[in-house]
Amino acid sequence: MLRLTVTAIGLASIAVAVVAAAEPPAGAVSCSGCHPSSARVTSPVVRLNGLDRAAIVKAMQDFRSGQRTGTVMDRIAKGFTDEEIQAIAAWYATQR
Ligand code: HEC
Repeated sequence: MLRLTVTAIGLASIAVAVVAAAEPPAGAVSCSGCHPSSARVTSPVVRLNGLDRAAIVKAMQDFRSGQRTGTVMDRIAKGFTDEEIQAIAAWYATQR
C-alpha cells in the first residue's frame, strides 16, 4: 500500500512537471494567435517557435522603440514590459 502511494505521488509530480513545462507565460497567448507555437500549425505569419531567444527580444525592443517598423508589431510591442518579453521569448525559443 505504501509503495503504491509513493508511486502514485511520483507519477503525479511527473504529470505536473510536464504540464508546467508546456505552460506558456503570461501574455504569450496574445502572440500565439498569430505566431504559431508549434511546427504542426501552418500560418502565414513569421514563426517564432525555435527562434533564438535573443533575436525575439531584440525584435520586440526594436518594434517598441520604433527602430523597426511593422504593420502590427510596432503597436503590439508597446503593450509589453521587458520582463514579459523575456519570458515570452524564452518560451517560444523552446517550442518546436
Ligand atoms: C495580429 C497578429 C500578431 C500578433 C498578435 C503578434 N504578432 Fe508578432 N508579427 C506579426 C506580423 C504580421 C509580423 C511581421 C512584422 C509586421 O508586419 O508587423 C510579426 C513579427 C514579429 C517578430 C519579428 C520576427 C522576425 O524574425 O522577423 C517578432 C519577434 C514578433 N512578431 C513577436 C511577437 C510577440 C512576442 C507577440 C506577442 C506579444 C506577437 N508577435 C504578437 C503578427 C502578430
